[in-house]
Amino acid sequence: MSKLTDSRQLLSQAARKEIDHWVAKYPLEQKKSAVISALTIVQEENGGFLTTELMDAVASYLDMPKIAVYEVATFYSMFDLEPVGRNKIAVCNNISCMLCGGDNIISHIEKRLGIKVGETTADGRVTLKREEECLAACSSAPMMAVNGHYHENLTLEKVDAILDGLE
Ligand code: FES
Repeated sequence: MSKLTDSRQLLSQAARKEIDHWVAKYPLEQKKSAVISALTIVQEENGGFLTTELMDAVASYLDMPKIAVYEVATFYSMFDLEPVGRNKIAVCNNISCMLCGGDNIISHIEKRLGIKVGETTADGRVTLKREEECLAACSSAPMMAVNGHYHENLTLEKVDAILDGLE
């Protein structure tokens, strides 16, 4: 078995099927256009984070240089390269959100969860990711993304309700 084939074997059959669905949306010679979808699929299947081996497998599957996949995975903040909690919280603290109390939201979450930005609760329930740059929901500031879903016009009470609802 070639090294290339070995690397692809890291992708589950279900992941490959889902990736193929996205690849089919682009011209054959442009299958690398599915890289964000592929990394999202693989990350989700791997408990929320990517390993070098999985990124290499995606590169092999999409016929891309490994470095090009690393560039995508390290550029977009929705990808994580270290183990994370079951839930990921990313609070925006760019200008609109900061002016509308983003700092307070972050400190409140830190206090409630007993962790700092960048840390995961001891029970593995929540990772409070780095402060986000603008997530393009400025008109509904302050906001945060929880597992990729936006929560806008936040108040401390709303934040509490969201935290209480996490598995
Ligand atoms: S500044 Fe927070 S969404 Fe734009």
